[in-house]
Amino acid sequence: MNTKERDKKYFGRGNEALDLKVTKAKGSLIYDEQGNKYIDFLGGAGVGSLGWGNEEIENEIRKNDRPAYVYPNFYYEPWTQLAKLLADLTPTHLTTSFRTTGGSEAVEAAMQMAMMYTGRKKFISVEGSYHGNTIASISLGASSKHSSFPNLLPGCEKIDLPLDDKALKTLEEKLKDHSLAGFIMEPVICNLGVVIPSSEFMEKLDNLCKQYGTLLIMDEAITGFGRTGKIFATEHFNIKPDMICMAKAMSAGHAGIGAVIITDEIANKVEEDVGLYSSYGWHPISVDASLVAINYLIEHKQQLFNNIKETGKFFEQQLKDINFNAETEIRIKGLAIGVDVKDQEYATQIRKRSLQHGLLMDTEGSSLVFFPALNIDIKTAKEGLEILEKSVEELNREN
Ligand SMILES: Cc1ncc(COP(=O)(O)O)c(C=O)c1O
Repeated sequence: MNTKERDKKYFGRGNEALDLKVTKAKGSLIYDEQGNKYIDFLGGAGVGSLGWGNEEIENEIRKNDRPAYVYPNFYYEPWTQLAKLLADLTPTHLTTSFRTTGGSEAVEAAMQMAMMYTGRKKFISVEGSYHGNTIASISLGASSKHSSFPNLLPGCEKIDLPLDDKALKTLEEKLKDHSLAGFIMEPVICNLGVVIPSSEFMEKLDNLCKQYGTLLIMDEAITGFGRTGKIFATEHFNIKPDMICMAKAMSAGHAGIGAVIITDEIANKVEEDVGLYSSYGWHPISVDASLVAINYLIEHKQQLFNNIKETGKFFEQQLKDINFNAETEIRIKGLAIGVDVKDQEYATQIRKRSLQHGLLMDTEGSSLVFFPALNIDIKTAKEGLEILEKSVEELNREN
């Protein structure tokens, strides 16, 4: 049996596999078994923020002398170092981090604590979004998905795009009965093809949540740790979220880890009862990986942020020049890049054809989405964009 056959027989997926058997990953390049090279604009959907196999990070992780495991109810110095680092990097009013193994668990933890703090049971989110794979986080996500268990958490509400005054009005109507524990969204909605809310919307949203006692929860699983040109995308706005969820780039792909950071006030009220025991939450390897990746991000911040700016501009210019079939909408915040080609089937065809030519990306509905490494160089970006252009031209000729 070869890999594909064994995968089909024994390996549970739930999502269709791309036709790529990975054998090596280096920087912004991925290689298959035959040694074919793929330019990686997918970045593991926001995980690979600092390039694959980043030697400085890998060597540093390898160096660390650590216990094989630490039981969650012991003291462990690196937990306090990581928690302190997260408190330093997030807005000052957020102080206490709870450990998780990833993003879904971070959202789940945020929901539990919001329920305990407010005494309310319902949540509201943006229709079509994605916040993870637990029953509760699925209830926040797209209503059309997972038809066998939609909204298992009763009373989850949604507001629809666009994020404008009408959406805020709908939101206020729902907030008015004081039954919503939390409003959760990505500050830049990567899972809807990189939707960038206006500052005005975000400020009004923050005010409304505060007015009605609903907690504002920012899910920064993808946007966190530099993706949008700020360490956290929340910083683009004049808002004061009650909680931030994070994962993915928290270890830049070196180990599974996540967190939710909350205010002192919420922590004081819920900490006694909340539990959130996690056998593998903040495993010593994951904590070291995260400390090293975050410290790398801090140390190289200026260089990385300059690169994000320059490369973001380059993507924008080049994408404008590609002859897509229809008028496109290009949405870029840092290196979170969405190109709405206005037709889901066309977007899928572009993704598949680009894969054949050696370029990796994702699609969300009718949008192509790119999350390249924050240190991708212009030469590699150019090479990838040329593959995209070639794929689009081929498809246009054939259709
Ligand atoms: C915004 C958002 N929240 C939560 C999650 C879930 O994270 P994880 O896959 O680490 O459970 C994801 C994953 O894609 C995500 O994009």
